[in-house]
Amino acid sequence: DGTVTNGQRSGRVSADGAATDPLPRSMPLLRRRHRELRDGIVAGRGEAVARQHRLGKRTARERLGLLLDEGSFTEIEMYRRRRGQDPAGRDDRPYTDGVVAGSGTVDGRRVFVYAQDFTVFGGSLGEAHAAKIHKVMDLALATGSPLIALNDSGGARIQEGVTALDGYGGIFRRNVAASGVIPQISVVLGPCAGGAAYSPALTDFTFMVRDTAQMYLTGPDVVAAVSGRRVTHAELGGAEVHGGSSGVATFVHDDEESCFDDLRYLLSLLPSNNLDLPPAGPSRGATEDLRPRLAEIVPVEPNRPYDMGEVIAELVDDGEYLEIGEGWAKNVVCALARLDGRVVGLVGNQPRTLAGALDSAASQKAARFVRFCDAFGIPLVTLVDVPGFLPGVDQEHSGIIRHGAKLLYAYCEATVPRIQVILRKAYGGAYIVMDSRSIGTDVSLAWPTNEIAVMGAEGAVNVIHRRELAAAEDPVALRAELVREYTERLVHPHYAAERGLVDDVIDPVETRAVVARWLAALEDKRAAQPQRKHGNIPL
Ligand code: HXC
Repeated sequence: DGTVTNGQRSGRVSADGAATDPLPRSMPLLRRRHRELRDGIVAGRGEAVARQHRLGKRTARERLGLLLDEGSFTEIEMYRRRRGQDPAGRDDRPYTDGVVAGSGTVDGRRVFVYAQDFTVFGGSLGEAHAAKIHKVMDLALATGSPLIALNDSGGARIQEGVTALDGYGGIFRRNVAASGVIPQISVVLGPCAGGAAYSPALTDFTFMVRDTAQMYLTGPDVVAAVSGRRVTHAELGGAEVHGGSSGVATFVHDDEESCFDDLRYLLSLLPSNNLDLPPAGPSRGATEDLRPRLAEIVPVEPNRPYDMGEVIAELVDDGEYLEIGEGWAKNVVCALARLDGRVVGLVGNQPRTLAGALDSAASQKAARFVRFCDAFGIPLVTLVDVPGFLPGVDQEHSGIIRHGAKLLYAYCEATVPRIQVILRKAYGGAYIVMDSRSIGTDVSLAWPTNEIAVMGAEGAVNVIHRRELAAAEDPVALRAELVREYTERLVHPHYAAERGLVDDVIDPVETRAVVARWLAALEDKRAAQPQRKHGNIPL
C-alpha cells in the first residue's frame, strides 16, 4: 500500500497493512477494511439468507430494493450490535442486530423505513434493534415524512428479557405520537407475533402477503394448550383471516412484488404529513366532464343491486382508485383516488353486499377511513345508497350502537371538505350517519332517484296505518294506495331539497363535473375547533 505518514512517523506497510507498522494508518487499507466489513454486513449470513429464500421470502435489503427508488437508501446504525454476552454465555453479536433502518425516496419523495431481518436472530427485537427503530421513527416525525415498517420477526428477543419488552413499548408510544401527523404504514412479510402485532394495529395501513405473513397475539401452541383447538399459523392469523374476517390487514397480496407496487401507489396518494397536501395531478377538465354511464349503472328500482365500484370508477380520474380494506366489511367501499387531479377519499355503500346496509364492521371500517382522511386533509366524497343499519340480534349484541356511533362521531368531527351524493336510498339513522347535512357535510347533492326518508314506504305505511289496515276489507288494495300516497308526499326527489337538506338535485351524468366544481370551491375550507384535550370517541 506504499508509504504512509502518520504524524511524526512514516514507514512501509505490507499488503494487509498490519505487519510492518504497529499503528497501521493507511487510508487505502482503512478504506479496504471498511469496505470488506460493510460488504459482509450487506451480504448477510449465507445459509440464513438461503433459508429465507427457500421460505419464499426476500431479505430485508432485497425488500428495500423493491420499495425504494434505486440507489436512494441511506442507512443508519449498520454497525449497531447488542451489548455483551447473552445469558447462555454466547458472544454472537451480529451487526445490524436484525433490522436495517434508514431513509430513502419513493417516486422522489422522502420516507423513513425499517426492515426487520429474519436472518439475524429471526428478526427478533432486542434492545439495540429497538433503539434503531426508535431512531428512524423519531427522524420520520421530526422531518414530517411517512414511516414504513417491514415486519418479519419472531417477536421479543427472548434472551434479552424485559429490555425487549421495553423496546416494544417505545415503538408503540412513537406510533401513537406520530398518529395523524405522518402516514404510518406496516408491511407484514413473515411472522409478526405477540405484542409485535400491536405496532401494525396502531399504524394507518397494514399490508400482508399470502402464505408467508402471520399475525397473532398467542401462537397455535398456546391456543391448543388453552382451548384444545388445533389450528395452523395461517388459520390463526394468516393474510386471509386478517384481510377478510378481522379487518386487521388493509391490503392482502399474493407476493412481495405486487405488495410493494401497491404500497408505492398508496404513497402517491398520501401527503407526507398533516401539514402538506397530497401530491396533486394535473387538472383533467372534470368540471365539464359528463358521464352517460352513470345514468345506466344505478338501477331506478330501489332494491336492485349494482356495484358501487363502477360508480366510483366513473367519477374519478382514469377510472383508477385504491380500495382500502377491500376484503373486509364489503358492504361499504372506502377508496382513495384523484378527482380532477385532487386526491379524495370516497366512502360508498355497496348494494352488492347486504344490500349496502351498515353493520358493525362496515361502521368501523368507514369510521377509521374518515378519520384518516380528516387527519391528513383529504376531502371526503360520500356516495349514499343505504337501506339502513342491518337489523339482527347478532348485530345488536355485537354492539352496532357503539360501532355505528364511531362512524357518526368520525363524520361529525371531520373538518376537511365534505360532499355527500345521494344516489338512491337514504333511510333513517343510516342517512344521517352517511354525512348528511345535519352532521356537517358541506354540500349535499342528490340524484333524481333519491329516496330520503325515515324508512321505506311499505314499512312506514305498516306502522302509521296499522289500525286502518287491520280493519280494512281489502287491506292489500288499501296498503298499495297508502304506499303510493306516502311516496308521492314524502319520498319524492325534491322533498329534502325543498327543505334545504339537499343543496342540489343533479343529473347523474353531471356528477363528476359537479363534485369537481365543489371540490374546487371548498379547497380553502378552514374550520377552527374549540380547545379540548381530545374527544371521547366511542371506541
Ligand atoms: C430470539 C428467536 C426468536 C425470539 C426466533 N428466533 N424467534 N430468537 N427470540 N423471539 C430465532 C430462532 O431461535 C432461530 O435461531 C431463528 O430465529 C429462526 O427461527 P426458527 O424458529 O428457526 O424459524 P421458523 O421455523 O421459521 O419459525 C419462526 C417462528 C419461531 C414461528 C417465529 O421462531 C417462533 O415461534 N419463535 C418464537 C416466537 C415467540 O414466542 N416470540 C415471543 C413472542 S412474545 P437460530 O439460531 O436457530 O437460527 C412477544 C412479547 C412482545 O413478542 C410483547 C410486546 C408488548
